[in-house]
Amino acid sequence: MKALPDFDMVLFGGTGDLAMRKLLPALYQQVKAGTVSPGSRILAAARKPLSREAFLELAEATCKPFLGAAYDADTWRAFAERVSYFPMDVQNPGSYAPLGEALGQHSDRVRVFYYSTSPDFFATISANLGGAGLISARSRVVVEKPLGHDLDSSREINDAVGEHFAERQIFRIDHYLGKEPVQNLLALRFGNVLFEPLWRREWVQDVQITVAEQLGVEGRGDFYEGTGALRDMLQNHLLQLLCIVAMEPPISSDPDAVRDEKLKVLRSLKPFTPADVVTKTVRGQYKTGAVGSKPVVAYAEEPGVASGSRTETFVAVKAEIDTWRWAGVPFFLRTGKRMAEKLAEIVINFRQVPHPIFGEATHGGRANRLIIRMQPDESMRLYLVAKQPGDAMALHPVNLNLDFAESFRDRRLEAYERLLMDAIRGKLTLFVRRDEQEAAWHWVEPILDSWAANEDRPKTYTAGSWGPAASSALLSRDGLAWNEED
Ligand code: NDP
Ligand code: BG6
Repeated sequence: MKALPDFDMVLFGGTGDLAMRKLLPALYQQVKAGTVSPGSRILAAARKPLSREAFLELAEATCKPFLGAAYDADTWRAFAERVSYFPMDVQNPGSYAPLGEALGQHSDRVRVFYYSTSPDFFATISANLGGAGLISARSRVVVEKPLGHDLDSSREINDAVGEHFAERQIFRIDHYLGKEPVQNLLALRFGNVLFEPLWRREWVQDVQITVAEQLGVEGRGDFYEGTGALRDMLQNHLLQLLCIVAMEPPISSDPDAVRDEKLKVLRSLKPFTPADVVTKTVRGQYKTGAVGSKPVVAYAEEPGVASGSRTETFVAVKAEIDTWRWAGVPFFLRTGKRMAEKLAEIVINFRQVPHPIFGEATHGGRANRLIIRMQPDESMRLYLVAKQPGDAMALHPVNLNLDFAESFRDRRLEAYERLLMDAIRGKLTLFVRRDEQEAAWHWVEPILDSWAANEDRPKTYTAGSWGPAASSALLSRDGLAWNEED
């Protein structure tokens, strides 16, 4: 791997869940890979009054389980040499001059400010960094999702951050874009001629995008109550995946060329009327059940959840894209907590052959499909039918593994690792542009508004299931079924 330029990274929210589970482990992995120069520095900032030693002790104990076999004491020591801790309240403007002193006068080097705090602080941090003169032309800011809770609040935050950082300095992260199979889907679509002619309404019957989690809200009940599955996952991760599947071939891999195409998809999404919200969306909330044979409590009983909460822990929608390429092809998106399996996949169902000369019964009428799986394993499989050896002309489904993991034995990068490196290198292609993010909010807002205006409660589903029955009905109305039901 190519060495990274010398950098300083300030990790606001450096003691938080995301920093400990994803960001510090990602940086550790890069130290292990030898790409981080000895002069590069990582400065974690949060309110807890910790010494550098106490922070490093906490970080080592917390990150170790997430590093698994990648952890070794020598690499940790090398990583720790680059890390320091700066106790501060981000709301206190007086903390920023000392932060600047801690960073030193290296205005020539890359400086990455990572906002891993509540988005309520993003405007304040930007203003305080700007006020203290800590932002140079080589500075970048990485902002976490969800940015705001609707279009207006996301605009406010974007305006406030944009007063101090130019758009080319703003890295809106969506870690699903950093996942290896998503990169591979881009390679498959735009590095080969084979798929392009098939990648359209004439040959694609429907597309399904599922991100199912077995986890619940994991002690983040307070956060989740004000968020819900649509804002937490669908507005960002699932819509970005839809864009990668549906976009036209960009003219190059330049950030704006790719992001222009994604924006066109978001703008072509058919708007929801209130009547559509009733027929084309499903919201659910899990009740008591069992996940992986372990009993789990209902969402309503999780700490931090209001009694009578109407927050959705599951959402499914039927999206339609009004373009020549995709008119009439439904894109079904669903995501939920406490589902039957941990599963993140994109399924492209191709149409049946126009005239089945072998008879449908021979192969169950099953169409060709391409499955890009991000979780629990990473794979890309193309399903075809082939003749079973023997006398009879019996056809059976087989799959071609297009992932080539066996051919490339390099270590796979975690999504956050790839994206942090891109931010340090200033590569924006896998980050979300402001207009994309706003187009995504614009599209989901009628759903949020209708749900808020509607007295109905989310449909319940048993924890450990595939969601409410209405989710299956969403597809069966079109004579279709989710992949696991097919
Ligand atoms: P946490 O609540 O776990 O962490 C918040 C961090 O902010 C802590 O380090 C906290 O430390 C610090 N903090 C809070 N208030 C202040 C303050 N006034 N001054 C300085 N530091 C402060 O949140 P997460 O890590 O879960 O999430 C961080 C961001 O990342 C959020 O925007 C979230 O939406 C997003 N995100 C999180 C994901 C996750 O898996 N956790 C996934 C995707 C996005 P202290 O209390 O010591 O000040
Ligand atoms: C985050 C959400 O963006 O993605 C979490 O805030 C969710 O609620 C997580 O658990 C899922 O990410 P992954 O990569 O584990 O599927």
